[in-house]
Amino acid sequence: MSIEIPAGLTELLQGFTVEVLRHQPADLLEFALQHFTRLQEENERKGAARFGHEGRTWGDAGAASGGGTPSKGVNFAEEPRHSDSENGEEEEEAADAGAFNAPVINRFTRRASVCAEAYNPDEEEDDAESRIIHPKTDDQRNRLQEACKDILLFKNLDPEQMSQVLDAMFEKLVKEGEHVIDQGDDGDNFYVIDRGTFDIYVKCDGVGRCVGNYDNRGSFGELALMYNTPRAATITATSPGALWGLDRVTFRRIIVKNNAKKRKMYESFIESLPFLKSLEVSERLKVVDVIGTKVYNDGEQIIAQGDLADSFFIVESGEVKITMKRKGKSEVEENGAVEIARCSRGQYFGELALVTNKPRAASAHAIGTVKCLAMDVQAFERLLGPCMEIMKRNIATYEEQLVALFGTNMDIVEPTA
Ligand code: CMP
Repeated sequence: MSIEIPAGLTELLQGFTVEVLRHQPADLLEFALQHFTRLQEENERKGAARFGHEGRTWGDAGAASGGGTPSKGVNFAEEPRHSDSENGEEEEEAADAGAFNAPVINRFTRRASVCAEAYNPDEEEDDAESRIIHPKTDDQRNRLQEACKDILLFKNLDPEQMSQVLDAMFEKLVKEGEHVIDQGDDGDNFYVIDRGTFDIYVKCDGVGRCVGNYDNRGSFGELALMYNTPRAATITATSPGALWGLDRVTFRRIIVKNNAKKRKMYESFIESLPFLKSLEVSERLKVVDVIGTKVYNDGEQIIAQGDLADSFFIVESGEVKITMKRKGKSEVEENGAVEIARCSRGQYFGELALVTNKPRAASAHAIGTVKCLAMDVQAFERLLGPCMEIMKRNIATYEEQLVALFGTNMDIVEPTA
C-alpha cells in the first residue's frame, strides 16, 4: 500500500523543527500550539492558499514564522504579538529579542533552557516624560564616563542613546561583604563598576561556587534584564566600592532594543564561524547579545603582551598581527617582537590568557582599519564552554608554532610560578 504524503507536510514540519531548534522551548506542546496558530493566522490574513500551494517555502524558518522575512521570534502565551503594529520591523525585533532561553550559568557547562518573555518595544514606555535623569556632579559624570568607556553592551549605542543611558545612571556605594545581587531574585538594575572588587557565585546543586570575580572594572546584572529571568548569580563586594546602576526600564528600552538590531547585523556572521559550531543556535544568539563592536586604526595596539586579560576578540573585518617578544632571532622587528600569526575575518584571538588565566602571551595590532567583536571574560566563560575543545586544539597548534620559531613553547600554558 502506498501512502501519499500530503503536499506541504514535509516543509511544514521542517519549518516547525527549525523553530524548535532555534528557540529550544521549555514547553514543546505550548510552543507547537503557538507556532501553528500563528501560521494559520498569517495564512488567513494573507488570504493565501493552503500549505503546499503558491510555491511558498514553508520550510524556511523565517517565512514560516510570519511576515515572510527570515529569523523571526516565537510568540508564547504570555507574549502577545501585535500584528497591528505600524512598524513591522520593531515587531520582528521584539520577537527576536525576547523569545529566548535563559543563559548558561556554570563555568564551561550548559544550563537547562527556560523561555523568557518577549521584549516588545511597543509595550515599553518610550516617551520623553518616562526618561529617567539622575543629576550628577562634574566629578561623578567624569567617573561615570570613564567607567562606561569599555562596557561592551554600550559599544553599539548611538550618541543619543548613550547620553540617555548616562543620564539615567545613578551611583551606588557598596560595603565590603554586601550582596549586590542574589541569585534567584528578580532583576532590578544593571551595574557598571566604578571601583571595587566583587566575587561571582553560582549555585550548582544547591551549593554556591565562586566562578569568577571583577577587579575594579566591568559590568554585571544584564542577564535577568535581557531575558526576564531570575538573577543567574550572586555578586558580593569583596572590598568597599562604587557602582553605577541603570534601571531595568531604561536598560530594556535602550540596550535590549539595540540588541535586536545587533542580532540582525551579526547573527549570520556568528552562525558562520566554525569555532562556534559546538554551540546551539540559541547559545550563538546569546553570543551576539553580549558582543560589542570595537574599531582600531592602522597600527593601534589591541592587546599588549604581559597585560591582564579581560576580553576575547573575533575579527569582523581587516587584519590583526599577533607578535611576541623574545630574545634574538631572525625576523625580529624594531621593537624586538616577532610576528607569529595574522588573523582575518572570522578568526579569533585573545582566548589564550582567558583559558590559561595568565597574562597576555602576545600582542595584537591592527593592520589597516580593523573591526573586532569583543566579549568580556565573564561572558566568554559562561557562553563558550562548549567550544573549549576546539580552542584547546588551537592552543596546541600555537605551542607547535612557537617551538618551530623559538625552540620553546614560551610556557604559554604552564601556570605562572
Ligand atoms: P544577572 O543574572 O542579571 O545577575 C547576576 C549576574 O552575574 C549576571 O546577570 C551576569 O551579569 C553576572 N555573571 C558573571 N558570571 C556569571 C556566570 N558564570 N553565570 C551567570 N551570571 C554571571
